[in-house]
Amino acid sequence: MTLPSSTENANADGMPAPLPPAKDMTALLSRAARNRNPSPLKSLIKYMVYPDMISLGAGLPHSSTFPLVQLSAVVRDNLETTNQADATYTSLSVMPGPFDMTSAAPPPLDSVLQYGNGRGIPSVRAFFTEEIRRLHQPRYADWDVVATCGNTDGFLKAVMLFCDAGDAVAVEEWCYPAALETMRPLGIVPLPVAMDSEGMLPDALRDMVLQRSQDRPLRVVYLVPTGQNPTGSSMSVERRRAIYAVAQELNLILIEDDPYYHLQFPDGEPDQLLPSLLSMDTDGRVIRLETFAKVLAPGLRLGWLTAPAKLVQLVQYHNEVSTQQPSGVSQAIAAHLLLKDWGQAGWQRHLTGLRTDYRRKRDLMQAVCQRELTGLCEWTLPQAGMFFWFKLNVPKALRAEAGYMQRIFECCIDKRVLLVPGWQFAVFTPEEETTLSEAEKSDRAPCLRAAFSFESADKVEQAIVRLAQVLRSFKCGTE
Ligand SMILES: Cc1ncc(COP(=O)(O)O)c(C=O)c1O
Repeated sequence: MTLPSSTENANADGMPAPLPPAKDMTALLSRAARNRNPSPLKSLIKYMVYPDMISLGAGLPHSSTFPLVQLSAVVRDNLETTNQADATYTSLSVMPGPFDMTSAAPPPLDSVLQYGNGRGIPSVRAFFTEEIRRLHQPRYADWDVVATCGNTDGFLKAVMLFCDAGDAVAVEEWCYPAALETMRPLGIVPLPVAMDSEGMLPDALRDMVLQRSQDRPLRVVYLVPTGQNPTGSSMSVERRRAIYAVAQELNLILIEDDPYYHLQFPDGEPDQLLPSLLSMDTDGRVIRLETFAKVLAPGLRLGWLTAPAKLVQLVQYHNEVSTQQPSGVSQAIAAHLLLKDWGQAGWQRHLTGLRTDYRRKRDLMQAVCQRELTGLCEWTLPQAGMFFWFKLNVPKALRAEAGYMQRIFECCIDKRVLLVPGWQFAVFTPEEETTLSEAEKSDRAPCLRAAFSFESADKVEQAIVRLAQVLRSFKCGTE
């Protein structure tokens, strides 16, 4: 695996020079974030680190009242093995032990079942920190990480750091709908920026920011740089650099939502991962969101957010009064698995197995699509993630019929093939939301998203054959 270079931080003797601190981004904070304080009770936790402290302070239940006395799991190791008989397994056990909020070792049961501090269990945070150091090598000194309940949770907290009601966020033209639905009820307005097959266009971003009025400047950009949801596109290194340059020029915050980072399978060099925006960030303007959802299991609800320490602290304060921290059971599983049972070697084996599996599924999908869908729609082969994005070749006559995309979607359902209709990813202005009919909205997005991650090979094949029948029945590709 090739790591991003950090030679810019080497001095004349080739010795690593100390990194500068992050720039102060606090001028960009939202009103809500400026008003955030530590939760009063949580602020007392720090005094519990003294070994001779007798605590009558915290309202913690005693661990003898917890009915769980041991946590055990059996873990499948070699994911790339398709034959179950060849699979090998690791067992993982979390045993009782004294409550300890500071140890960097995988925690005993009494610690994980207890309340936490809003940052994550120390050993889990140590793992996240090491991952960031190993893979992204941040270029400023005072970065930090905080545990989240996955990227959905991380995004909410990141966007609320910088946006109040009425503020706008630049998003990709086709955008992950949960992010849109996070912002909408908060009165935060997503503004779509044009994309090509490499994601958001830097010049379009610059133009949009410059067009905003000075009393309501645009401060935040939301991006999914790798295996984008829904388009499957990945930003090239040059595109990432260009977006970062615009962010520096116009003093923008970049929220880098990167759940598919480890699911990269570029042609040629399978283990060469694209550098993250965080790895290019010399200022501390990238808020990076990562999650175990696609690499261990979504149900663990465990992820992490990386940013300058001052901003991470505000996320911690937000955690303290919302999720508190991810489930202790999930954190215990992650800590014991990744730091003790698998270790780094097992983690790497697992990721390689995942990439191999996803690449195989992607290639299979591509072969079926080339056979069945050529001419009916257009798509770009995804180099990461789990999505194909089909742009339908809609005949002119059909385009004149309002609601044709809804009819195509309904016809897919009748044929028992489910894809996500493009309109779910379209970004409408608040005015369009109310003035456009559902039919008009759907026709703005003559696209469908197909995930190749879930169904078996034969089901994927059947699904694409059914889709082709539907598209042919609407005469797609005939003009
Ligand atoms: C771009 C993007 N962000 C976030 C998520 C959700 O991540 P999590 O399960 O960690 O909340 C997804 C999952 O579909 C996604 O595609």
